[in-house]
Amino acid sequence: MNSLISKDLEAAAQLLLNGNVVGVPTETVYGLGASIYNTTAIDYIFELKKRPKSNPLIVHTSSIEQVQKLTTAFPDKAKQLANYFWPGSLTMVLPKSATVPNQITANKSTVAIRIPNHPVFLKLIDLVGPIAAPSANPYERISPTTAKHVANYFPTGLPLILDGGSCEKGIESTIIGFDDHEVIVYRLGSISVEEIESIVGKVTVKNEVNGTYTSPGMVLKHYAPITKTIVTNSIEEYIDEFRNKKIGVIRFKDDSTFPNVAKQLTLSKKGDLTEAAANIYAFMHILDQLKLDFMLIEPMPNNSLGRSINDRLKRATHL
Ligand code: TXA
Ligand code: MG
Repeated sequence: MNSLISKDLEAAAQLLLNGNVVGVPTETVYGLGASIYNTTAIDYIFELKKRPKSNPLIVHTSSIEQVQKLTTAFPDKAKQLANYFWPGSLTMVLPKSATVPNQITANKSTVAIRIPNHPVFLKLIDLVGPIAAPSANPYERISPTTAKHVANYFPTGLPLILDGGSCEKGIESTIIGFDDHEVIVYRLGSISVEEIESIVGKVTVKNEVNGTYTSPGMVLKHYAPITKTIVTNSIEEYIDEFRNKKIGVIRFKDDSTFPNVAKQLTLSKKGDLTEAAANIYAFMHILDQLKLDFMLIEPMPNNSLGRSINDRLKRATHL
């Protein structure tokens, strides 16, 4: 069965209600969606992605009422953040209710949940109910930001990939949890730490691997392209060293060209980190298709979304 890219929302809803897995658009990255109530479809997501069953999925809903049905506690800070950021790319880890099947949460007592900010996806959730969806990439690969990327990863196996255009944010949601009343950031993402702190004050970032990690997606070697990737400020030196190699380059804002480079891309000529985040995976997908020997990527300034992008680049290059 070839995976079909389509804009047919009704067809996507029917397929999900019949227990299929469908490629779904979100404002962050594309997902592999299934109704949270269809455990066969949930199992199939893990199989498609070759993802360990111990790594839980995010649940997407379209209303706070749905979130409250699927969780048993909603701390004050969670409410404040939900009011400010939902619908949007902030995922909260909260105590789960019995309604959420254990396969989704890898038998954890918590569920990661968010209200996404994508009109097509929200309509789909209204038709189907809550949808569990991990990013639509095979385990450890870069997340897809277009329907075409999803089809490239899964040319067969999906009855439909719902085309909702290019993802506006371009990197995954930020994941937070609550320790007592303290906000912990488990995964840096498309909402910056600074933005969260502007609402609830100081937060703690715990996204490094340190033995007992809380968010399994935080393992290093994740988000990796096939092409060997080097993140460096010394691009010229590497170009010189790899003189006889086929090289691709991604720069932050400078678009002056290097000689002897097969393909060079600039993330944001005006130096805007939001624009850079929207482009980073898309550009890595472009370079990854060119059968290069190396891709060289310039690190971002380490603040705001630059910090989230640098986090992904670090994981993309860990060997
Ligand atoms: O932007 C996004 O978050 C995208 C779109 C599709 O919503 N989804 C996404 O899902 O990135 P995924 O499965 O690729 O990453 C979800 C991360 C994983 O690292 C997983 O371990 C973590 O969320 N996670 C899920 N449930 C959790 C829980 N109960 N406690 C801690 N971490 C959890
Ligand atoms: Mg993922």
